[in-house]
Amino acid sequence: MTVLYTDIGELVTNDPANADGDPLGIISDAALIVDGQQIAWVGPRTEAPDADERVSCADASVIPGFVDSHSHLVFAGERSAEFAARMSGEPYGAGGIASTVAATRKADDATLLAGVERLAEELLGAGVTTFECKSGYGLTVDDEARSLRIAKAVTDETTFLGAHVVPSEFRDDRTAYIDMVTGPMLRACAPHARWVDVFCDRGAFDVDEARHILTEGMKAGLVARLHAGQLGPSPGIQLAVELGAASVDHCTYATDDDVEALAAAADTTVATLLPGAEFSTRAQYPDGRRLIDAGATVALATDCNPGSSYTTSMPFCIAVAVRDMNFTPAQALWAATAGGAAALRRDDVGVLAVGRRADFVALAAPSFIHLAYRPGVPLVRDVVRAGEHLTERVESRS
Ligand code: NIG
Ligand code: FE
Repeated sequence: MTVLYTDIGELVTNDPANADGDPLGIISDAALIVDGQQIAWVGPRTEAPDADERVSCADASVIPGFVDSHSHLVFAGERSAEFAARMSGEPYGAGGIASTVAATRKADDATLLAGVERLAEELLGAGVTTFECKSGYGLTVDDEARSLRIAKAVTDETTFLGAHVVPSEFRDDRTAYIDMVTGPMLRACAPHARWVDVFCDRGAFDVDEARHILTEGMKAGLVARLHAGQLGPSPGIQLAVELGAASVDHCTYATDDDVEALAAAADTTVATLLPGAEFSTRAQYPDGRRLIDAGATVALATDCNPGSSYTTSMPFCIAVAVRDMNFTPAQALWAATAGGAAALRRDDVGVLAVGRRADFVALAAPSFIHLAYRPGVPLVRDVVRAGEHLTERVESRS
């Protein structure tokens, strides 16, 4: 069964071939045809072939579904009081993670699953059609493994983050905790994960610990990604490059040498910036333009978690990236779609081209620029994922 989506005022394809090499590959007055789960045709409206069904997009801007390459959805409880304290001047630190770990360990599977499903629904409503999800609030062998099993219910992009922080029961023997992470915990978690991650920052794990944990994870068949440079300058950014990690996330305090290393590794390691984290911790914003101009591949992600960034809104992240992180609207949109796909090493999503998965969003706006120009306004009108029309707000069908 084929569906023609037509009357698209502006189609952002992320295929430079459609626009003389411009990365967003915009086609004006466009149409696209979906066949099953995939895109079968993309081009100018007037040249579109026939299809079994026709949907008018009423001159909307249509963009690729967002690809959120960094989230922590498996947790119980919330930390609004900690947020309020920060807004009154308290600093953010890795220590707050412990309170979510305590609540998560106490929660039953059904509660954790309900929380994950609620946030997955929110992500979809915000136009996110692919997302990654980490463990990291269990920090025992069983609680990490169950976190990943629960994450698997909503995504295949699951990440083992047993090395989020050293839990309090191991405070006096961090070596024993790291041995557990790289031993029995990794064995229990690897079957449920694609990725391995470490929080390499002040109050969490240092660069040598991170190297050891990631290397063991890679030996177990997982692919590395890393949190680094959130709370201060960190050799973790260059560690990610050294290990060929798919992504290094936060990069808030990237140095000139880090930027150079990320630019040289642009085909391997994506720099993923997380505007929600700086917003919610009242931290300095990283400069996205500096990374992009140097030649790094840059992604934007929500970092959805109850401590440092409790948002599922990619449009919000785009607005902040444009307003405070020196992204142009075009660079921010690319980073939230094709950039996220690169950070997850996916070539089936992030681009609207023949043979790719039919994941796209019709905006209640004539231009994608409105995502930043109209901050906080719910502009995600229709979401199509793998060819399935998940919302029913299109103007007309025939
Ligand atoms: O990516 N940085 C480490 N982990 C999360 C925060 C976790 C928390 O505070 O609960 C992050 O920002
Ligand atoms: Fe994170």
